[in-house]
Amino acid sequence: MRPWYEELFGNYARTYDREVFTKGTVQEVDFIEAELGGDRSVTILDVGCGTGRHAIELARRGFSVTGIDLSENQLTRAREKAIEAGVAVDFLRRDARSFRFDVPFGAAIMICEGAFPLMETDAENAAILASVSQALRPGGRLVFTTLNALFPLHRSIQAFTNADAVGVVTAESRFDLMTFREHAVVTVTDDSGVEKSVRTDERFYAPSEITWLLQTHGFASVEIFGCQVGAFTRAKPLTPDDFEMLVVAARAATREA
Ligand SMILES: C[S@@+](CC[C@H](N)C(=O)[O-])C[C@H]1O[C@@H](n2cnc3c(N)ncnc32)[C@H](O)[C@@H]1O
Repeated sequence: MRPWYEELFGNYARTYDREVFTKGTVQEVDFIEAELGGDRSVTILDVGCGTGRHAIELARRGFSVTGIDLSENQLTRAREKAIEAGVAVDFLRRDARSFRFDVPFGAAIMICEGAFPLMETDAENAAILASVSQALRPGGRLVFTTLNALFPLHRSIQAFTNADAVGVVTAESRFDLMTFREHAVVTVTDDSGVEKSVRTDERFYAPSEITWLLQTHGFASVEIFGCQVGAFTRAKPLTPDDFEMLVVAARAATREA
């Protein structure tokens, strides 16, 4: 049987783009652009790029972008959207746990749970950070958003995720305090109109874990902020009310680190 994230993203690209949480792309790219100092010479890797919403917006602004994803279906839609937008983006099928590029990138993004933290084991999620770190030049920046473990300690994930649901509806949500994993059943009506249910397994990380993991994988500076879709800012501290956290990290100045 295919892993749950391959099942979910197997035929969901058009419905995905109607989800409420995909509607803040332009502001999110404003933030990413500012974090890169507006420098168009910085090459960008979009990990778990999905249907390419950030990659395409960055390309529209003059950046050279490569998007990688495990789902051929998401990538097909991304390529169609890039043609519609009149921009060139390299969309490649790669597994975020094990990819390698010969030429390092100047920056990487991994937005809205792009691959990390969807893997079934903590080791696989860590492998994603290791691969991203390898793919960055010394000093290269990583901007990503990921699930905040402080949130489910205080609130119901199911109520939050169902509030604005378009394609996926969450049921049987259980947050395991020993593993910080949410096990749930999501029902999605896919792009062919077929309803299917998938058992999900997502890892919520404590901010201290993220800092430690990134430091372990060669990142010298790590900053963590609160995260709201379409309102990325350094001004918002992370709290237990944030479903996701916004992380800005920089690769150490030497490749050995
Ligand atoms: C929630 S979507 C996020 C897409 C995009 N970053 C965005 O902001 O809309 C998660 C994406 O991660 C991809 N993904 C899951 N596991 C992956 C892996 N191991 N390697 C690469 N991509 C993966 C899925 O196919 C899906 O497109």
